[in-house]
Amino acid sequence: MNKTKYLLTNEEKEVFNRWLSARKDNAEANLKACFNNHFKKKDSIHEAMCYALYNGGKRLRPIMVYEGAAIAGAEIQKVAPAACALEMIHCYSLVHDDLPAMDDDDYRRGKPTCHKVFGEAMAILAGDALLTGAFELLASIPCQNDQDQIRLLRVIAELSSAAGSSGMIGGQVIDLESEGKSIDYPTLVNLHALKTGKLFIAALRTGAILGGIDDMKLHKLTEYGLHFGQAFQITDDILDITGDEKEVGKPLGSDEKNSKNTYPSIFGLEKSLQMAKEQINKCILSLNDFGKEADFLRWLAYYILSRSS
Ligand code: IPE
Ligand code: IPE
Ligand code: MG
Ligand code: MG
Ligand code: MG
Repeated sequence: MNKTKYLLTNEEKEVFNRWLSARKDNAEANLKACFNNHFKKKDSIHEAMCYALYNGGKRLRPIMVYEGAAIAGAEIQKVAPAACALEMIHCYSLVHDDLPAMDDDDYRRGKPTCHKVFGEAMAILAGDALLTGAFELLASIPCQNDQDQIRLLRVIAELSSAAGSSGMIGGQVIDLESEGKSIDYPTLVNLHALKTGKLFIAALRTGAILGGIDDMKLHKLTEYGLHFGQAFQITDDILDITGDEKEVGKPLGSDEKNSKNTYPSIFGLEKSLQMAKEQINKCILSLNDFGKEADFLRWLAYYILSRSS
């Protein structure tokens, strides 16, 4: 396929939309099955966890777990609990990100944020429980042999690091500490790489490692995730300015309200979109050694540029 175009043909768009919707339905169904099967209690904390989990996200991270496994040539249903764990970590990060002490936002995925419905204390605890629950779920995955066990342990080590103080949380700290200050370009890139890129990379790597991929391909998928993360956060920050609030599902102007450092706040909208396109180009290049099995990831990268939610 053409390596430098940014728009899909109508035919490609139709195929991609069908693929995306089937993948989202699969991720959604497996998320429910895995979570409900493992977390059976119906008390107040589980109600808050379910509110944060089942509220209509795009499910991109679990979709990437499945995609990583598919590219490795593995049976994708095998990675369902790991995909659920990724989405639990992502949803926890959103609950905490929206808290008054963080971005102080009242809407998420078109609904009142978790702390607006359950109160701040319960929202903090729901986030904590989603995070710890994700690792509880991962650790409960049955292993058939030593190889499975080694791969699972590697995934748990990588994911905890990607979510932690050298990963997503590290990025949130830079994001918070640089509010209202001017930062240089390498710091901006690092902020995006950590707060957003790390979880996308971890999602792809989780599926690919559990699926038994080779190191060379794993390295290429990691490159894809790195550039995808930059482009994804740039478009999130563009949508925060130019999006349709109903479609975006979260309050616009959150970044300006909090004096955040974003590509649009530093470079303006037009240049930011151009920079996102450059990142998407790099995503496509990183997939050069793959064949048709990576077409969904290629099209997903293009889709990010024109997303409206
Ligand atoms: C939002 O992620 C947080 C960012 C990293 C910008 P998504 O846009 O993937 O959120 P959902 O899961 O679809 O709601
Ligand atoms: C934060 O980025 C992403 C996380 C690590 C949760 P944003 O603060 O821009 O995410 P949104 O716009 O609230 O989803
Ligand atoms: Mg934030
Ligand atoms: Mg936010
Ligand atoms: Mg945002």
